[in-house]
Amino acid sequence: MSINKEQDFGTPASTASQLVTLEIDGFKVTAPAGTSIMRAASSIGIDIPKLCATDSIEPFGSCRLCVVEIEGGRGMPASCTTPVAEGLKVSTQSKRLADVRRGVMELYISDHPLDCLTCSANGDCELQDMAGAVGLREVRYNPQGENHLNAAKDESNPYFSFDPSKCIVCSRCVRACEETQGTFALTIDGRGFDSKVSPSQNQAFMDSECVSCGACIQACPTATLMEKSVIDHGQPEHAIITTCAYCGVGCSFRAEMKGEQVIRMVPNKDGKANHGHSCVKGRFAFGYATHKDRMTKPMIRADIKDAWQEVSWEEAINHASSELRRIQAKYGKDSIGGITSSRCTNEEVYIMQKLIRAGFGNNNVDTCARVCHSPTGYGLKQTFGESSGTQDFDSVMKADVILIIGANPTDGHPVFASMMKKRLREGAKLIVVDPREIDLVRNSPHVHADYHLKLRPGTNVAFINALAHVIVTEQLMDEDFVNARCDVASFAKWEIFIAQEYHSPEATESITGVPAADIRAAARLYATANNAAIYYGLGVTEHSQGSTMVIGIANLAMATGNLGRVGVGVNPLRGQNNVQGSCDMGSFPHEFPGYRHVSDDKTHRLFEAAWDAELSSEPGLRIPNMFEAALDKSFMGLYCEGEDIAQSDPDIQHVHAALRAMECVIVQDIFLNETAKFAHVFLPGASFLEKNGTFTNAERRISPVRKVMSPLAGYQDWEVTQMLANAMGYPMNYSHPSEIMAEIASLTPTFAGVSYEKIDQLGSIQWPCYDEESVGTPIMHEETFMRDNGKGLFMLTEYVATHERVTRKFPLILTTGRILSQYNVGAQTRRTDNNAWHSEDRLEIHPHDAEDRGLKTDDWVGIKSRSGETVLRALISERVQPGVVYTTFHFPESGANVITTDNSDWATNCPEYKVTAVQVSKVSQTSDWQEKYHAFSENQLDLLEQGINNG
Ligand code: SF4
Ligand code: SF4
Ligand code: SF4
Ligand code: FES
Repeated sequence: MSINKEQDFGTPASTASQLVTLEIDGFKVTAPAGTSIMRAASSIGIDIPKLCATDSIEPFGSCRLCVVEIEGGRGMPASCTTPVAEGLKVSTQSKRLADVRRGVMELYISDHPLDCLTCSANGDCELQDMAGAVGLREVRYNPQGENHLNAAKDESNPYFSFDPSKCIVCSRCVRACEETQGTFALTIDGRGFDSKVSPSQNQAFMDSECVSCGACIQACPTATLMEKSVIDHGQPEHAIITTCAYCGVGCSFRAEMKGEQVIRMVPNKDGKANHGHSCVKGRFAFGYATHKDRMTKPMIRADIKDAWQEVSWEEAINHASSELRRIQAKYGKDSIGGITSSRCTNEEVYIMQKLIRAGFGNNNVDTCARVCHSPTGYGLKQTFGESSGTQDFDSVMKADVILIIGANPTDGHPVFASMMKKRLREGAKLIVVDPREIDLVRNSPHVHADYHLKLRPGTNVAFINALAHVIVTEQLMDEDFVNARCDVASFAKWEIFIAQEYHSPEATESITGVPAADIRAAARLYATANNAAIYYGLGVTEHSQGSTMVIGIANLAMATGNLGRVGVGVNPLRGQNNVQGSCDMGSFPHEFPGYRHVSDDKTHRLFEAAWDAELSSEPGLRIPNMFEAALDKSFMGLYCEGEDIAQSDPDIQHVHAALRAMECVIVQDIFLNETAKFAHVFLPGASFLEKNGTFTNAERRISPVRKVMSPLAGYQDWEVTQMLANAMGYPMNYSHPSEIMAEIASLTPTFAGVSYEKIDQLGSIQWPCYDEESVGTPIMHEETFMRDNGKGLFMLTEYVATHERVTRKFPLILTTGRILSQYNVGAQTRRTDNNAWHSEDRLEIHPHDAEDRGLKTDDWVGIKSRSGETVLRALISERVQPGVVYTTFHFPESGANVITTDNSDWATNCPEYKVTAVQVSKVSQTSDWQEKYHAFSENQLDLLEQGINNG
């Protein structure tokens, strides 16, 4: 079986609007000005031989294999670097051309191992294809002459190998690393015969700046750069398009398969979020799906001190349902509920919340978006009328000024970061607002921030008010936009509010720590740009004033008219793959799908009729309220799908106490995660490779998730929820997730035109998509805002300092973030070779603070807050400012959430993960909590082992 290859047009498409017509081999072809002759020929099915060109990077013109003849022209120009022109007559075939091409190939092959039949690229090698295409039959040069055939391989990277003996020095890898990824890790070192590809300063790949994005492998025409999975298992045989299950960029991939085995994940060139690019997680870190820790058997137990007992699906589902019903009979209808996950598909989330609202009879459903982007939902809904970002990713390519607040795109959203870096290399200006020096500030080649405003954690609102103050008092507003598009009464109030002196940069400098002059300069830069775009992350939302800050950002964009067109906007960078979708699907306790309040009469009646059930119009419990209620003995049963609250939620000792207090915790997951250690029923889940459905990324793009292998435990997750619903007496009868999407579309106006057929046809759809004709909405609020009266609403954003203040006891502020190679709680990436880059969470601390405490890099440090204490190793770094310490949270034993507090956003309860007052000191042993954690975890693994042995 041979895999369908994607067409390679040789050079990138031209976006010029002017068209030119020419003749190639006697055929007329019309193409946009600036298109290469090679691409124009390819578009009519004439494939000119090529080696150094590929359509993901700019042409280079080095191999001379693609030469053509032009009537009336001199010589033989390279078709990859020669643009089309009106009236040209091009020949791609002649004896003269054939001789030149054969000569070129002969030179390449004379210094190339002749082991095609045993080479892992056999059948997928452009050098091999081109040798055939130019009719090379023999090589006249002496194979014993000087050559590179014994060059040593570099196997340092866990995922790919570099075999220089096969390299033809075409530099496609070098250009891919520069143009596509923006890392500039590769160079061609030396000249002539001695020239060779060199990672960084002639280092091994693992020691170089390489971030393992895979772009060079994608670009390499030979077996030089090759996935180890292909070397180990052979060439794939078929491919299925699906969507990455890691971050909110939502990259489209071809899962290239051999039977049911994934051989490699190749970024899809037609993917509208990623345009053929990837990062190390989506590209390589898929091995967790078949890791030995995968749970494949349902299990039950009466108490968390008991051994697990493996049971049939039927028994597990019946046990779960009877326990939930028993608890409701004993403690009341509202004593049970569920938590959905942004890692699940839209369809899974939809039927989960449907089960809870219609089957449990209450609205006790919440999602992990509670702890990340719930303030985005609230703030943008209030001001713009819709809970979502305003742009598509491509929009950044038209931004002149990019303002990044509380986000670290190169680690958190790497593929989008590559696009952003490209725009910055083209000359867009950059303002970074972050307490820590992220890579984009000055650690990305040819990119630097014009302003890095290092504000103190917890002072976001004072900062955004100061920025707005400058714009208002210096008359930098777009009054035409405000008058035409916004609620002018709300603007008038806001204008007076924000112009008050106490918001000025000078007055707030002592709060934010940012020099007033820098705020003034940054405000002018943002406000006077033709197109200014804001990108933000959890550094905005995870604060006690997270919602206020989102509103402040929205105010700023409206006041400067930076909304409703390409190149501008307000763009939350969503953490997990389906945060947008899980919110859209109604997983908040107060909202039905499509963000409609449960108490809204019309919506309520619509869902009651459609679901044939009596529904509550009272908002249900949010996650933190569930924990409180559990400790009060009024919430005793939880169905938790795909979420690891026992690791990811703040003040974890409180969460553990709440889980221990419940009588039935049902966990549905692919691994026995931290929450499952407190569970009574375990339902094995399916990875994204084992199910059908859709994910919605940060740009509202609904993309297909397609089953490429059978579920290891027998069922897709939506089927498990459906079985539980039926066991609980609420009938569900879907035979495929497409039917669930059809129901979502029938009940949700913004999804009305969405269907699986359309997704398959278009590749993806950005909601709103109101009807059958619509192909979706890349840019929102173009004519009017989505609020009822169509006007954008300004809201007042008074700064209120967090309760979490530094004191003599807790003099430092801890803030948190993530790293490229690991993902969230790490359950997936920790079970892959990504650990080679990050195998533990560290505490970053400024040299001054470290010196005060006698700390060196690698020392063990105790970190103590008013919630708890944990121990990590120190990393002395000037990336953090004095007074601020920083850590990632990818390993459960790090206990980052032992120290985070119960402070939360006033509007949404989103936890204040980003601000915790701590003391740090040198220690020699792990914390009490860590000791207890290890003992508990070991005990739980024993109980699992006993269950498996008895089963
Ligand atoms: S994997 Fe990516 S970062 Fe590394 S060398 Fe290749 S293109 Fe550059
Ligand atoms: S490694 Fe591959 S892409 Fe890079 S120069 Fe060699 S053959 Fe070309
Ligand atoms: S950028 Fe995000 S969606 Fe894309 S491959 Fe990486 S983790 Fe997956
Ligand atoms: S493909 Fe045009 S010169 Fe190499």
